[in-house]
Amino acid sequence: MIINGVEMRGLAVDDAAGLADVLTRNRAYLAPYEPSRPEAFYTEAGQRARIEGMLDERDGGRLVPYVLVEAAGGAVVGAMNLGSIAYGPLCSGGVGYWVDREWHGKGLATAALEEVCRAARDELGLHRIEAQTLVDNTASMRVLAKAGFTEIGLAPRYLHINGAWRDHRLFQRVLHDDPPTA
Ligand SMILES: CC(C)(COP(=O)(O)OP(=O)(O)OC[C@H]1O[C@@H](n2cnc3c(N)ncnc32)[C@H](O)[C@@H]1OP(=O)(O)O)[C@@H](O)C(=O)NCCC(=O)NCCS
Repeated sequence: MIINGVEMRGLAVDDAAGLADVLTRNRAYLAPYEPSRPEAFYTEAGQRARIEGMLDERDGGRLVPYVLVEAAGGAVVGAMNLGSIAYGPLCSGGVGYWVDREWHGKGLATAALEEVCRAARDELGLHRIEAQTLVDNTASMRVLAKAGFTEIGLAPRYLHINGAWRDHRLFQRVLHDDPPTA
């Protein structure tokens, strides 16, 4: 999928340097939305180890990690993860995402999220996707609304973000109502 000169594709070990670079440049900006990170998170070696762990999770069927990459130069400009994948009567996954600040407002997160929902339904057969935002993250709430998510509740002290357990708003998008196949 390409939108506004940016391609979304599966995460690869070779993305380690590009991810370390973009995450370092956006470190202060992303801090309010992220768990506490060790210094190694901002290095190529640290990202390589992290990606290898994520690809193991992918191979186990629990995670589908994507990167957003500038089509012309190959720079990483964002990421989108479909994780916590479960089948049986739940048939659900959860999304997380961020976009390089220099690329905001071009519709990247919305288009990427719509594509992840399509793949979750058509390729994985999931019934629903869940997302959560900090209670004041209006940009992310706008992305979720544009991609067809609706708010389902408030979870007090839900995730440990930026050094404290923070309240989150919960959202979901139901993808279909067929019975589970696995
Ligand atoms: C949330 C985020 C991924 C959006 O990325 P993006 O590529 O700019 O998203 P899009 O361009 O698809 O859409 C952004 C929408 O939010 C709106 N928006 C941006 N900042 C806003 C603000 N402060 N208040 C209200 N709306 C805002 C934009 O106007 C746009 O809506 P529109 O198309 O109706 O104009 C990006 O802001 C980000 O990385 N934030 C930090 C990390 C984060 O919050 N991740 C999600 C955790 S739940």
